[in-house]
Amino acid sequence: YRNLRVALLGGGSVGAQVAALLLEHGDELANRSGAGLELVGVAVRDLDAERTPAIPKHLLTTNAEELILGADIVVELMGGLEPAREYILQAINSGADVITANKALLATHGPELFEAAEQVGAQLYYEAAVGGAIPIIRPLRDSLAGDRVTRILGIVNGTTNFILDRMDVHHDTLEAALATATELGYAEADPTADVGGYDAAQKAAILASLAFHTTVPLEAVHREGITEITAEQVDAARKAGYVVKLLAICERIAIEGRDGEYGVSARVHPALVPVAHPLAAVHGANNAVFVQAEAAGDLMFYGAGAGGRETASAVLGDLVSAARRHVIGGPGIAESTHATIEVLPMSSVRTRY
Ligand code: NAP
Ligand code: HSE
Repeated sequence: YRNLRVALLGGGSVGAQVAALLLEHGDELANRSGAGLELVGVAVRDLDAERTPAIPKHLLTTNAEELILGADIVVELMGGLEPAREYILQAINSGADVITANKALLATHGPELFEAAEQVGAQLYYEAAVGGAIPIIRPLRDSLAGDRVTRILGIVNGTTNFILDRMDVHHDTLEAALATATELGYAEADPTADVGGYDAAQKAAILASLAFHTTVPLEAVHREGITEITAEQVDAARKAGYVVKLLAICERIAIEGRDGEYGVSARVHPALVPVAHPLAAVHGANNAVFVQAEAAGDLMFYGAGAGGRETASAVLGDLVSAARRHVIGGPGIAESTHATIEVLPMSSVRTRY
């Protein structure tokens, strides 16, 4: 195998899980991608902080810039706008492909970063930026590229869904539920981003840009969070047959008075969802995204929307894609040619679920 040097920026909820999975499953990922994936270091702020899972001490550094130099793939999991933006540009300009889960950065500086990558022929992967573990970026960008998406309706913030669910089912206060969501690693470093609807608005901007093949600026997304939602409102909604959910709604809408012309609307706000609707059954930190397209009809994407290990799954998928790109022309690019896993006969397969 050719060896690819992977630099990880951030060793928090997601970064520590990515490091652990990469160290645990390195051989398997090498088989799938056709390249060895060597974790050369993890940039953090505090070398002595406790991490779950633990990251070997010799991999930790506070010098992110040095780590980026010489890396083939840079994985940005620090969060925030700066210095994440600066480091990603440095990585792109030094010839590395970049993977990020940073929706705040993409929704704010996406066009600048994509253009920088295009100029040097680098790739920017971001499957983990929306919906945690749920594959939604590739389906919108690739699988549905030949169709015409008309509407996206989704629960895209795990923390607020967790909070509303706890208020509804366990009668927790918003504050108590937020504290639990933070402990579980779902919330942003500044949880105002979650409860204020900013995180969901960033994700709506990313989804709408992909779905409608345009750039939807963050400022264009109408945003209301859940901070004003009270226990009484949640209870009253339930008694009336509804569940309160924070929804992201992105639509392609015919412009009145301009024949054949369409515009895009993107908004995030709490909504009353009838209990019988599938979105009402999205519990805990799960996310669900409904996509309506002219030819495909209705599609639904569902799963863990937040959480370190769950999100790490999407990051590692991007890592395999980036590695495959590096070895185009070599073995193991599109399929696992080195896989040794046994194919089981039907008689040994469990058929009751
Ligand atoms: P986190 O737990 O706060 O971890 C951030 C990590 O980055 C920490 O290890 C921190 O170092 C390091 N860091 C921050 N600023 C740094 C700097 N200037 N130089 C060096 N290291 C720095 O965040 P997270 O929850 O893992 O989230 C990371 C990214 O993934 C964010 O963009 C977030 O929006 C996104 N995301 C998170 C989830 C989730 O469920 N948590 C899901 C999807 C996407 P120290 O540990 O030393 O402080
Ligand atoms: N804080 C985010 C959420 C993490 O709760 O959805 C996943 O993007």
